[in-house]
Amino acid sequence: MLPDFVTPYGKIVHKDSLQYMRDTIDDGTVDLIFTSPPFALLRKKEYGNVEADDYVNWFKDFAKEFHRILKTHGSLVIDIGGSWLAGKPVRSLYHFELLIMLCKEYNFHLAQEFYWWNPSKLPSPAEWVNIRRIRVKDAVNTVFWLSKTPWPQASNRRVLVPYSDSMLDLIKNGYQPRLRPSGHDISDKFQKDNNGAIPPNLLAIPNTESNSQYLRYCKKHNLKPHPARFPARLPEFFIRMLTEVENVVFDPFAGSCVTGEVCETLQRNWVCCETVEEYIEGAKSRFIDGVTPSNGNNAPGFYKIYNSSILWDEDVEKLKPLPKDGGKERPNKKGNA
Ligand SMILES: C[S@@+](CC[C@H](N)C(=O)[O-])C[C@H]1O[C@@H](n2cnc3c(N)ncnc32)[C@H](O)[C@@H]1O
Repeated sequence: MLPDFVTPYGKIVHKDSLQYMRDTIDDGTVDLIFTSPPFALLRKKEYGNVEADDYVNWFKDFAKEFHRILKTHGSLVIDIGGSWLAGKPVRSLYHFELLIMLCKEYNFHLAQEFYWWNPSKLPSPAEWVNIRRIRVKDAVNTVFWLSKTPWPQASNRRVLVPYSDSMLDLIKNGYQPRLRPSGHDISDKFQKDNNGAIPPNLLAIPNTESNSQYLRYCKKHNLKPHPARFPARLPEFFIRMLTEVENVVFDPFAGSCVTGEVCETLQRNWVCCETVEEYIEGAKSRFIDGVTPSNGNNAPGFYKIYNSSILWDEDVEKLKPLPKDGGKERPNKKGNA
């Protein structure tokens, strides 16, 4: 086992997080657990994934400890990707089953569900998306924000986003009375400048890290970069919204320790647990020679929503009718079923 890697605000612990929680963390001492556990994917990651059928049972011991160590006002935020059933173009329900188990058996409340949209995600699974063309790109992860009470500490004032052009116009030029398509009239309260817009629960954050301090360090030291890193702006959003300076944040499935890096920048106390030594060796780069500040939520592209129907084309409907068998028969090379 590696010794703890200690920084001014936190530490990386080379240990099974379940054991670490049981041995080391007192009841009601953590403000936020922010984590991305191994997903129940069909294509296995090198660090090992639990099968979808066993997933909920595997998670129960962690759920019990998470509930015990959180403060009453604390939150548990889980970033989890969906999965497909083997050989069929239908989705696994494992992450919804996880959510229901956490709420029904461990008394967590679903404060809100978020969707992290990664616009740079490659199309997959290729069989359904690229070859048979019967499903679209799976490009969102669900992010479950759970809490011990219905009233966890939180403020959306910490995570405001830039106003849209039309809102800036409204603030500057005033409100022209007009009914919205929904039939609602908007009052002049909307004219007030609140320093930014309240964000939606769709977090559009591209995951395109290609030349970071972390990657350069891994290359230089011949370390394999972690294959499932999330971008810093994902934990940053929740850490800003749900914690204060010097609160305690725990990431039990830390990987390359992005959560720790964000906490260090934002002066939150933190502990990250990871079982794979090579990932910890790479993660140390995040704290050597100072911390790389994360982008913040004013970076260009934040919340840019594309029109999903941008290539709508009547001719395609005529030339390519919907497959009557739901895509069961594999198309030939010309794309005809
Ligand atoms: C999805 S990855 C997390 C990636 C991370 N969010 C990042 O951005 O680098 C999950 C990690 O949990 C680790 N892991 C799995 N079980 C663990 C356990 N019981 N204790 C600590 N780490 C564990 C795996 O080795 C893997 O690196």
